Amino acid sequence: MNQKIAVLDFGSQYTQVIARRIRECSVYSEIMPFNTKADVLKKQGVCGIILSGGPASVLAKGSPRPDRKIFELGVPVLGICYGLQLMGHMLGGKIVSSKQREYGFGKLSFKGSSELLKGLESPLQVWNSHGDKIEKLPEGFKPVGTTENSAYALIEDKKRRFYGMQFHPEVAHTPRGMDIIKNFLYGICGCTGDWTMSDYVDRAVLKIRETVGDKKVILGLSGGVDSSVAAALIHRAIGDQLTCVFVDNGLLRKDERKKVEDLFKNNFKMRMKTVRAEKLFLSKLAGVKDPERKRKIIGKTFIEVFDKAVKSIGKVDFLAQGTLYPDVIESVPIAGNPASLIKSHHNVGGLPKNMKLKLLEPLRELFKDEVRALGKELGLSKEVLWRHPFPGPGLGVRVVGDITKKRCDILREADAILLEEMKASGLYYNVWQAFAVFLPVKTVGVMGDERTYDNVIALRIVESQDAMTADWAHIPHDVLAKISSRIINEVKGVNRVCLDISSKPPATIEWE
Ligand code: XMP
Repeated sequence: MNQKIAVLDFGSQYTQVIARRIRECSVYSEIMPFNTKADVLKKQGVCGIILSGGPASVLAKGSPRPDRKIFELGVPVLGICYGLQLMGHMLGGKIVSSKQREYGFGKLSFKGSSELLKGLESPLQVWNSHGDKIEKLPEGFKPVGTTENSAYALIEDKKRRFYGMQFHPEVAHTPRGMDIIKNFLYGICGCTGDWTMSDYVDRAVLKIRETVGDKKVILGLSGGVDSSVAAALIHRAIGDQLTCVFVDNGLLRKDERKKVEDLFKNNFKMRMKTVRAEKLFLSKLAGVKDPERKRKIIGKTFIEVFDKAVKSIGKVDFLAQGTLYPDVIESVPIAGNPASLIKSHHNVGGLPKNMKLKLLEPLRELFKDEVRALGKELGLSKEVLWRHPFPGPGLGVRVVGDITKKRCDILREADAILLEEMKASGLYYNVWQAFAVFLPVKTVGVMGDERTYDNVIALRIVESQDAMTADWAHIPHDVLAKISSRIINEVKGVNRVCLDISSKPPATIEWE
């Protein structure tokens, strides 16, 4: 087994980022409840402990404390922000609440040598976010670095290998933070950095087996990155105890159902139940124009269909979801067993309240890029792992206005051509999303000698980092020309193609 760093979680919004940084250093880490017993850490052979930040004040009654014995284990301890104050407080120093809350950028100045700062030069830009500060150091500690507002911004007890910092080395706003973390892991804890994604898979598989036992799991497969990786991982762990449910709501892209079945049923040999519910969805959506009503109907119908499918499978105990860390909103201020909510925006396919299933979320600690690396390790292709996001309501919000089967079919064909040409020109993976939109207007055209009166397709191709803001992508004219002429020539019922050149904000990425 790999060397392991324990991150004790005192509820900081950055705890998961610390764990992620450690993984980036190829070291295995586990986030554990703040009050994990020292015996447990000892038994697990941790080679270092990090005390995370947190929103509480160590001066407040009842604020979270670690097991005091962790300081007697003989392993290095790094306290970050609240973690530093805990060390100060519990090891005999004095903490005062600071008049000036230090928040934002700071400058860390240091003299002399510390293993933590090896290879770094003073001053360093650091990111602070804290109220309390240390006034008197505990015995054995000495100051190593100062900021404008704190004489003890970085402290150490070299003999016991205890280190504390007021600032957050894990965030991007501390540009050399990774070097500090590396110094702690490699230089102080003696980690070798030989942990890999394949080790991650091994551990995750064991954990899933332990959690699930001989029970059955279902997973709503959408064909998107997250649910695909979750399915592949859980299947690796428990094989046929997993059943994937795929709902064809009639609002999917061209050949989507076939592609998903080919991959998961035929290639991975997973148990998969496909529900063909196009007629049901389209009948419920008939005549509905309002985008939010559409979303609600699609979400509600999905749950009904999914619920029925699950019941037909027999006794099931777990519902698996591909929830990632960025989807998780911590709703308990100090973690340990933080409950989570699912972003309402992405709740199509969320847990039906009356299902009484336990949740299995094996990707909960991971960030998107890590999920892709994990998927690669599990044998998923680039096409699956790097596909563009597709909204839960699917074409339902891309057929503007009334949704009919005919409109969806036209849109599917146009969209397939757009995606084909984006891939052929090598541009597909350079943009955030590319899709076609069906507009509920007819315009006049001429084909051969004949006048036509047909539909309009809009092309939406955007660049973005996180979908919060987006800009329209500047696609070369020859590529656009080919897409347009192919759509008009090959898709019956379309005689005009427009390009959407709006940024977000004020427009949104989807048209509805
Ligand atoms: P907007 O249109 O809000 O989209 O700029 C931002 C991102 O979210 C996706 N999106 C959705 N995803 N359910 C989803 O699962 C939805 O109802 C939904 N609406 C938009 C959109 O594709 C883009 O990536």
